[in-house]
Amino acid sequence: PYLNMLLSQDCETPQLNPVMEPLSWMLGTWLSDPPGDGTFPTMKPFQYLEEVHISHVGQPMLNFSFNAFHPDTRKPMHRECGFIRLKPDTNKVAFISAQNTGMVEVEEGEVNGQELSIASHSIARMSFAKKPDVEQITRKFRLNSDGKLEQTVSMATTTQPMTQHLHITYKKV
Ligand code: HEM
Repeated sequence: PYLNMLLSQDCETPQLNPVMEPLSWMLGTWLSDPPGDGTFPTMKPFQYLEEVHISHVGQPMLNFSFNAFHPDTRKPMHRECGFIRLKPDTNKVAFISAQNTGMVEVEEGEVNGQELSIASHSIARMSFAKKPDVEQITRKFRLNSDGKLEQTVSMATTTQPMTQHLHITYKKV
Protein backbone atom coordinates (compact mmCIF):
# COMPACT_ATOMS: atom_id res chain seq x y z
CA PRO A 1 0.00 0.00 0.00
CA TYR A 2 2.83 2.40 0.91
CA LEU A 3 4.36 2.08 -2.56
CA ASN A 4 1.05 2.85 -4.20
CA MET A 5 -0.33 5.58 -1.96
CA LEU A 6 -1.65 7.46 -4.95
CA LEU A 7 -3.82 4.56 -6.08
CA SER A 8 -7.52 5.12 -5.68
CA GLN A 9 -9.82 2.66 -3.89
CA ASP A 10 -8.44 3.43 -0.40
CA CYS A 11 -5.13 1.74 -1.11
CA GLU A 12 -6.82 -1.58 -1.83
CA THR A 13 -5.18 -3.45 -4.67
CA PRO A 14 -7.33 -3.09 -7.77
CA GLN A 15 -8.67 -6.16 -9.53
CA LEU A 16 -6.17 -8.08 -11.60
CA ASN A 17 -6.41 -7.02 -15.23
CA PRO A 18 -8.02 -9.98 -17.04
CA VAL A 19 -5.17 -9.97 -19.59
CA MET A 20 -2.84 -11.08 -16.79
CA GLU A 21 -4.96 -13.97 -15.53
CA PRO A 22 -2.65 -16.64 -17.12
CA LEU A 23 0.21 -15.36 -14.90
CA SER A 24 -1.78 -14.87 -11.68
CA TRP A 25 0.02 -17.86 -10.13
CA MET A 26 3.18 -15.71 -9.94
CA LEU A 27 1.62 -13.01 -7.74
CA GLY A 28 2.73 -12.62 -4.15
CA THR A 29 5.70 -12.24 -1.87
CA TRP A 30 8.06 -15.18 -2.04
CA LEU A 31 11.08 -16.16 0.06
CA SER A 32 13.75 -18.66 -0.95
CA ASP A 33 13.15 -22.01 0.74
CA PRO A 34 15.69 -23.62 0.78
CA PRO A 35 18.46 -21.12 -0.20
CA GLY A 36 19.13 -20.88 -3.93
CA ASP A 37 22.04 -22.59 -5.66
CA GLY A 38 24.39 -20.62 -7.88
CA THR A 39 26.67 -22.36 -10.34
CA PHE A 40 28.77 -21.58 -13.40
CA PRO A 41 31.91 -23.18 -14.85
CA THR A 42 34.00 -20.13 -13.90
CA MET A 43 33.00 -19.96 -10.23
CA LYS A 44 32.79 -21.90 -7.01
CA PRO A 45 29.18 -23.02 -6.33
CA PHE A 46 27.42 -20.64 -3.94
CA GLN A 47 24.11 -20.29 -2.12
CA TYR A 48 21.91 -17.24 -1.75
CA LEU A 49 18.69 -16.04 -0.17
CA GLU A 50 16.15 -14.19 -2.24
CA GLU A 51 13.03 -12.14 -1.58
CA VAL A 52 10.65 -11.71 -4.47
CA HIS A 53 7.68 -9.38 -4.83
CA ILE A 54 5.32 -9.82 -7.74
CA SER A 55 2.36 -7.45 -7.76
CA HIS A 56 0.07 -5.41 -9.98
CA VAL A 57 -1.84 -2.16 -9.92
CA GLY A 58 -4.61 -3.19 -12.31
CA GLN A 59 -2.60 -2.47 -15.45
CA PRO A 60 -2.16 -5.29 -18.00
CA MET A 61 1.28 -6.14 -16.56
CA LEU A 62 2.89 -7.49 -13.41
CA ASN A 63 5.54 -5.57 -11.43
CA PHE A 64 8.41 -7.59 -9.99
CA SER A 65 11.50 -7.24 -7.82
CA PHE A 66 14.04 -9.97 -7.05
CA ASN A 67 16.41 -9.15 -4.19
CA ALA A 68 19.23 -11.58 -3.37
CA PHE A 69 21.17 -11.66 -0.09
CA HIS A 70 24.23 -13.48 1.19
CA PRO A 71 23.02 -16.48 3.24
CA ASP A 72 25.35 -15.82 6.22
CA THR A 73 25.91 -12.06 6.31
CA ARG A 74 22.61 -11.09 4.65
CA LYS A 75 24.57 -8.57 2.63
CA PRO A 76 22.50 -7.45 -0.39
CA MET A 77 23.70 -9.04 -3.64
CA HIS A 78 22.04 -9.23 -7.04
CA ARG A 79 18.88 -7.13 -7.50
CA GLU A 80 16.58 -6.72 -10.43
CA CYS A 81 13.17 -5.25 -11.03
CA GLY A 82 10.83 -4.77 -13.92
CA PHE A 83 7.62 -5.82 -15.56
CA ILE A 84 6.02 -8.88 -17.07
CA ARG A 85 3.62 -8.34 -19.96
CA LEU A 86 1.35 -10.64 -21.93
CA LYS A 87 0.33 -10.07 -25.50
CA PRO A 88 -3.47 -9.91 -25.14
CA ASP A 89 -5.33 -13.06 -26.20
CA THR A 90 -2.11 -15.05 -26.63
CA ASN A 91 0.29 -16.90 -24.32
CA LYS A 92 3.21 -14.71 -25.48
CA VAL A 93 5.10 -13.11 -22.61
CA ALA A 94 7.67 -10.31 -22.35
CA PHE A 95 9.87 -10.04 -19.25
CA ILE A 96 11.56 -6.61 -18.91
CA SER A 97 14.27 -6.31 -16.26
CA ALA A 98 16.81 -3.78 -14.99
CA GLN A 99 19.61 -5.30 -12.90
CA ASN A 100 21.93 -3.63 -10.38
CA THR A 101 24.89 -4.97 -12.35
CA GLY A 102 24.18 -2.42 -15.09
CA MET A 103 22.41 -4.83 -17.38
CA VAL A 104 18.97 -4.25 -18.84
CA GLU A 105 17.23 -7.03 -20.68
CA VAL A 106 14.06 -8.09 -22.42
CA GLU A 107 13.21 -11.78 -22.50
CA GLU A 108 10.35 -13.28 -24.45
CA GLY A 109 8.62 -16.62 -24.39
CA GLU A 110 5.37 -18.24 -23.41
CA VAL A 111 3.26 -19.28 -20.47
CA ASN A 112 1.78 -22.76 -20.55
CA GLY A 113 -0.34 -23.59 -17.52
CA GLN A 114 1.75 -22.78 -14.47
CA GLU A 115 5.05 -22.67 -16.31
CA LEU A 116 6.73 -19.68 -17.94
CA SER A 117 9.68 -20.23 -20.30
CA ILE A 118 11.53 -17.20 -21.66
CA ALA A 119 14.78 -16.40 -23.43
CA SER A 120 16.66 -13.15 -24.00
CA HIS A 121 15.43 -11.07 -26.88
CA SER A 122 17.70 -8.08 -26.23
CA ILE A 123 20.38 -7.26 -23.68
CA ALA A 124 21.95 -3.86 -23.00
CA ARG A 125 24.58 -2.92 -20.44
CA MET A 126 26.42 0.08 -19.13
CA SER A 127 29.82 0.76 -20.69
CA PHE A 128 31.71 -0.14 -17.50
CA ALA A 129 29.83 -3.34 -16.63
CA LYS A 130 31.91 -6.18 -15.19
CA LYS A 131 33.21 -8.68 -17.75
CA PRO A 132 32.44 -11.16 -19.15
CA ASP A 133 29.38 -9.89 -21.00
CA VAL A 134 26.23 -11.97 -20.94
CA GLU A 135 25.22 -12.95 -24.48
CA GLN A 136 22.09 -15.02 -23.84
CA ILE A 137 19.78 -15.80 -20.94
CA THR A 138 17.02 -18.36 -20.51
CA ARG A 139 14.67 -18.64 -17.53
CA LYS A 140 11.98 -20.98 -16.43
CA PHE A 141 9.44 -20.23 -13.71
CA ARG A 142 7.06 -22.91 -12.51
CA LEU A 143 4.47 -23.22 -9.76
CA ASN A 144 4.96 -26.69 -8.31
CA SER A 145 2.17 -28.91 -6.99
CA ASP A 146 3.31 -28.16 -3.42
CA GLY A 147 2.61 -24.45 -4.00
CA LYS A 148 6.27 -23.47 -4.29
CA LEU A 149 7.58 -21.25 -7.06
CA GLU A 150 10.72 -22.45 -8.82
CA GLN A 151 13.11 -20.42 -10.99
CA THR A 152 15.97 -21.72 -13.13
CA VAL A 153 18.29 -19.31 -14.97
CA SER A 154 20.91 -20.27 -17.54
CA MET A 155 23.23 -17.96 -19.42
CA ALA A 156 25.90 -17.84 -22.09
CA THR A 157 28.74 -15.36 -21.74
CA THR A 158 31.51 -14.31 -24.09
CA THR A 159 33.63 -17.05 -22.45
CA GLN A 160 31.13 -19.86 -21.66
CA PRO A 161 28.34 -21.60 -23.60
CA MET A 162 24.78 -21.74 -22.22
CA THR A 163 25.04 -23.19 -18.69
CA GLN A 164 22.86 -23.06 -15.59
CA HIS A 165 23.66 -20.14 -13.25
CA LEU A 166 20.77 -20.24 -10.76
CA HIS A 167 18.22 -22.63 -9.36
CA ILE A 168 15.90 -21.65 -6.54
CA THR A 169 12.55 -22.48 -5.02
CA TYR A 170 10.46 -19.99 -3.05
CA LYS A 171 7.63 -20.40 -0.58
CA LYS A 172 4.81 -17.90 -0.51
CA VAL A 173 4.69 -15.69 2.58
C1 HEM B 1 28.67 -14.10 -11.46
C2 HEM B 1 25.21 -12.91 -14.60
C3 HEM B 1 21.88 -13.39 -11.14
C4 HEM B 1 25.37 -14.24 -7.92
C5 HEM B 1 28.01 -13.74 -12.61
C6 HEM B 1 28.66 -13.53 -13.88
C7 HEM B 1 27.70 -13.18 -14.74
C8 HEM B 1 26.44 -13.20 -14.04
C9 HEM B 1 27.90 -12.84 -16.22
C10 HEM B 1 30.17 -13.66 -14.17
C11 HEM B 1 30.46 -15.03 -14.73
C12 HEM B 1 31.92 -15.25 -15.03
O1 HEM B 1 32.78 -14.58 -14.43
O2 HEM B 1 32.22 -16.11 -15.87
C13 HEM B 1 24.00 -12.96 -13.93
C14 HEM B 1 22.72 -12.74 -14.54
C15 HEM B 1 21.78 -12.87 -13.57
C16 HEM B 1 22.49 -13.18 -12.35
C17 HEM B 1 22.50 -12.41 -16.01
C18 HEM B 1 20.29 -12.77 -13.64
C19 HEM B 1 19.59 -13.00 -14.73
C20 HEM B 1 22.54 -13.65 -9.96
C21 HEM B 1 21.88 -13.81 -8.69
C22 HEM B 1 22.85 -14.04 -7.78
C23 HEM B 1 24.12 -14.03 -8.49
C24 HEM B 1 20.38 -13.76 -8.40
C25 HEM B 1 22.61 -14.27 -6.33
C26 HEM B 1 23.37 -13.81 -5.38
C27 HEM B 1 26.56 -14.28 -8.61
C28 HEM B 1 27.85 -14.51 -7.97
C29 HEM B 1 28.80 -14.49 -9.00
C30 HEM B 1 28.07 -14.22 -10.24
C31 HEM B 1 28.10 -14.72 -6.47
C32 HEM B 1 30.33 -14.71 -8.86
C33 HEM B 1 31.02 -13.52 -8.33
C34 HEM B 1 30.86 -12.35 -9.25
O3 HEM B 1 31.31 -12.41 -10.40
O4 HEM B 1 30.24 -11.36 -8.81
N1 HEM B 1 26.67 -13.55 -12.74
N2 HEM B 1 23.83 -13.23 -12.60
N3 HEM B 1 23.89 -13.79 -9.81
N4 HEM B 1 26.73 -14.13 -9.96
FE1 HEM B 1 25.28 -13.77 -11.29
